[in-house]
Amino acid sequence: MTMMKNNKDEQGIITSSYQKLFNAQICLLNFFGHILVFGCGLLIGITLTLFLNKISFQFQIQQFQNPFFPTPPITPNISNPSNIQNQTKIFIKEENFVITNNISSSNVLEDFLKIPSAMHDMNEKELFWRASLAPMIHKIPFKQTSKVAFMFLTKGPVLLAPLWEKFFKGNEGLFSIYIHPNPSFNETIYDQSSVFHGRRIPSKKVHWGENSMIEAERRLLANALLDFSNTRFVLLSESCIPLFNFSTIYNYLMNSKKTYVEAYDLASSVGRGRYSKKMMPLINISQWRKGSQWFQIDRYLALQVISDKSYFSIYKKHCNPPCYSDEHYLPTLVSIKFWKRNSNRTLTWVDWSKGGPHPAKFVRPHVTIDFLEKLRFGSTCEYNGKTTNVCYLFARKFTRHALGRLLRFAPKLMQFN
Ligand SMILES: *[C@@H]1O[C@H](CO)[C@@H](O)[C@H](O)[C@H]1NC(C)=O
Ligand SMILES: *[C@@H]1O[C@H](CO)[C@@H](O)[C@H](O)[C@H]1NC(C)=O
Ligand SMILES: *[C@@H]1O[C@H](CO)[C@@H](O)[C@H](O)[C@H]1NC(C)=O
Ligand SMILES: *[C@@H]1O[C@H](CO)[C@@H](O)[C@H](O)[C@H]1NC(C)=O
Ligand SMILES: *[C@@H]1O[C@H](CO)[C@@H](O)[C@H](O)[C@H]1NC(C)=O
Ligand SMILES: *[C@@H]1O[C@H](CO)[C@@H](O)[C@H](O)[C@H]1NC(C)=O
Ligand SMILES: *[C@@H]1O[C@H](CO)[C@@H](O)[C@H](O)[C@H]1NC(C)=O
Repeated sequence: MTMMKNNKDEQGIITSSYQKLFNAQICLLNFFGHILVFGCGLLIGITLTLFLNKISFQFQIQQFQNPFFPTPPITPNISNPSNIQNQTKIFIKEENFVITNNISSSNVLEDFLKIPSAMHDMNEKELFWRASLAPMIHKIPFKQTSKVAFMFLTKGPVLLAPLWEKFFKGNEGLFSIYIHPNPSFNETIYDQSSVFHGRRIPSKKVHWGENSMIEAERRLLANALLDFSNTRFVLLSESCIPLFNFSTIYNYLMNSKKTYVEAYDLASSVGRGRYSKKMMPLINISQWRKGSQWFQIDRYLALQVISDKSYFSIYKKHCNPPCYSDEHYLPTLVSIKFWKRNSNRTLTWVDWSKGGPHPAKFVRPHVTIDFLEKLRFGSTCEYNGKTTNVCYLFARKFTRHALGRLLRFAPKLMQFN
C-alpha cells in the first residue's frame, strides 16, 4: 500500500512540473525542429559516405553496439572481469556466425535451424535462453515435419529399450529422443545402432520427490525445444511402455486440441495438505492442484514452462518433502494460467490402487493380453469433443522381467511393424 501511495505522489509532482514546462516548450519547439532536420541530414550524409567508400563492417570483439547489426540486449559489466570473459565468448560465437554465413545467403536460415547435438556445450543459462526463442510469425516459410519429443527421465538405462526400439523403427524423422540419466550413468550400453545412442543430454543428479525432479523436467523440455520441429513433448520414465503403435500415438498427439497435464483438487493431507500459506499471493489454496508428473504437452506450453520464473521459485522455496513439487508444480501452474487448453488428464496409465508412495510395479506374470487390452481400451474420456475409449497411450511401471512377454505380444496386439 505505501509503495502505491508513494508512486502516486511521485506522479503528481511529475505532472505539475510538466505543466510549468509546457509554455517554455512551445517556444523551444520550433528551434529544436530545425536542429532535428539538420541532424537527420547530417546522419544520412555520413551513412552514405561510409557505404560509398565500401568500409567493411567487421564485428569486433570489444564492439558492443554496432548500429547496423544490433546485438542482443546484453548489458556489459566492465568492472567484473569474469563477466567480460563470458561476454567475449558470446561475441566470438556471433562473429563465427557471420563469417560462416557470408558464403551464400540461403545458408543463413539453414544454419539457424541446425539442431545442436544432444550433448551440447551450453550452460543452463545459455540453454534456457536459447530454448525460449519463439517466432512471432507462425506460418513457416519452409517445409517442416512435426516431430514428437520423447523425453526419458531415468536413473540409469531405459529398462524396456528393446520394446521402444521396435516401436520407433521405420518412423525416423517423426520423433526425437532425449535422455536425462543420473550423471554417473555410463551410456555405452546403447550401441551405435540404437535409437538411444547419443541422445543423452547434459544432466544433473535427481533426488526422488525433491525439486531437482522438476528441474530435470524443465531441463529436458529446454533441450527438446532447441529443435524447432519438435511440436509435442512427452515425459517418460525408464519403466514406461507404449500401448499403441507409433502412428496411432503420433496422430493422437498431433491432432489433439488439448494438452495433457493431469490436475485435480484433493482435499486430503496428500492434496491441499501440502499447500503452504507462504505461497500467497501467487497461489492460494483453492488454486492448488495435484496430478501425475508424466505429461504430454505442446510447444506453446513447453515454452511457457521453461520461461516461468515466479512459480518455479515459489515451489523451490516452499514445496519440499513432504510436499512433492513434481506432483504439484505443473498441475498448479497449468491450472492457473493455461487451463483453457488443458484436458486435466494424463495419457500415462498407472496403478495407485495398492496405496503407498509408489505405484504398482508389473513383472512377467502380470503381462497378459487381457491386461494390456484393459489398459488400451478399458476407460472412457473425451478427445477433441468426442467420447473415446482410447484414454492412455503409455503405461508404467514395468520391470525388465516384463520385457520378454511385451516383445512377444507387441507386434500382434499393438500392431508394431
Ligand atoms: C557489475 O558487477 C559487480 C560485481 O559482480 C556488481 O557489484 C555490480 O552491481 C555490477 N553492475 C552492474 C551494472 O550490473
Ligand atoms: C561465466 O561462465 C562460467 C561458466 O560458463 C560461470 O561459472 C561463471 O559464473 C560465469 N560468470 C559470470 C559472472 O556470469
Ligand atoms: C566471409 O567473410 C570473411 C571475413 O569477413 C572473409 O575472410 C571471407 O573471404 C568471406 N567469404 C566469402 C565467401 O565471401
Ligand atoms: C563405460 O563403460 C565402458 C564399457 O563397459 C568402459 O570402457 C568405459 O570406460 C566406461 N566409461 C566410463 C566413463 O566409466
Ligand atoms: C497402427 O495400429 C493401427 C490400429 O491401432 C493400425 O490401423 C495401423 O495400420 C497401424 N500402423 C502401422 C504403421 O502399422
Ligand atoms: C483464490 O484466487 C482466486 C482467483 O484469483 C479467487 O477467485 C479466490 O477467491 C481466491 N480464494 C481465496 C481463498 O483466497
Ligand atoms: C480443468 O481444470 C480447470 C480448473 O482447475 C477447469 O477450469 C477446467 O474447466 C478443467 N478442464 C476440463 C477439460 O475439465
